[in-house]
Amino acid sequence: MAKKGRVFSGIRPTGRAHLGNYLGAIQNYVALQDDYECVYCIVDIHALTTVEDTENLRQNTYEIALDLLAAGVRPAETILFVQSHVPEVMELHTILSMVTPLGKLTDLPTFKEKVRQNPDNVNYGLVGYPVLMTADIVLYKTDVVPVGIDQAPHLEFAREVVRSFNYRYHTKVLIEPQMKNTIYPKILGLDGKEKMGKSLNNQIELAATPEETTKRVREMVTDPARMKRTDPGNPDICNVFTMHKIFSPQSDVDMVNVECRRAGIGCVDCKMLYARNLNHHLEPFRAKRAELASKPDLLKDTLNDGANRARAIAQKTMEEVRTALQLP
Ligand code: TRP
Repeated sequence: MAKKGRVFSGIRPTGRAHLGNYLGAIQNYVALQDDYECVYCIVDIHALTTVEDTENLRQNTYEIALDLLAAGVRPAETILFVQSHVPEVMELHTILSMVTPLGKLTDLPTFKEKVRQNPDNVNYGLVGYPVLMTADIVLYKTDVVPVGIDQAPHLEFAREVVRSFNYRYHTKVLIEPQMKNTIYPKILGLDGKEKMGKSLNNQIELAATPEETTKRVREMVTDPARMKRTDPGNPDICNVFTMHKIFSPQSDVDMVNVECRRAGIGCVDCKMLYARNLNHHLEPFRAKRAELASKPDLLKDTLNDGANRARAIAQKTMEEVRTALQLP
């Protein structure tokens, strides 16, 4: 079947993926492969904008690659590669920076947020983060970029840079990428309040063992008004119930919905049931991941192969760019 065009997305190597990443980006990555030619990039250079200690960078890159492959990214058809393996992106980044007004970068909400979070590390690379992201997208002649709400301003920015570039240099070599809005469910962490994330240590990693997972699930915050086992609970405001709705069979969801409200089951029972269902759901993923992890050379070959295929596209684009710019 003919595919609808090329999708590109980048994922930061922040370590092992958690349930929030899985239900947001990763499952979407897997599904898009059915309709599009996909290019997925582990953006290690982007990671350098905020990571000062790179001790774990290489390992984190492998971990996320394992997660993507175990979740169903198919490297025979999809290009899966590491950003720094195709250095052309940094060349294009520099060229695109010439058509990027500085004020546009410093006005972006994502930039302001990063400055607030880390006022002592406002480096030049951080300001240029969206330019590098634009370079990623256009280097691979991307038609469509799946974006959640937080990345939408970056994509709008990328489209403007492409228009400025093509206009200034009287060319059409760069493709203005379309934005494909993806509605990511907001997955809350164990605290039941904040978005699941590594920085808050409120996450459940996909690759955790069943025992670790059960232990983490036991730490989940439930309806705070339910103080005693005999108090009725309110599943509507309970994060454990939200997760049951995602991972448990309908019969368990219905049971919890009824029994929690009349204190027929306690929070511990409810969590143990969720942990069992979650572990069951993740079993095939974990088996595949363990198998892949046992063959590190195969993983490296897969990423090298992805880089070779990505680089072939990148070099062609750069030739066109150099011609358009009359670079001798
Ligand atoms: N900025 C994205 C993020 O923080 C990662 C990213 C880098 C990306 N390059 C990209 C996403 C290109 C989409 C397209 O998650």
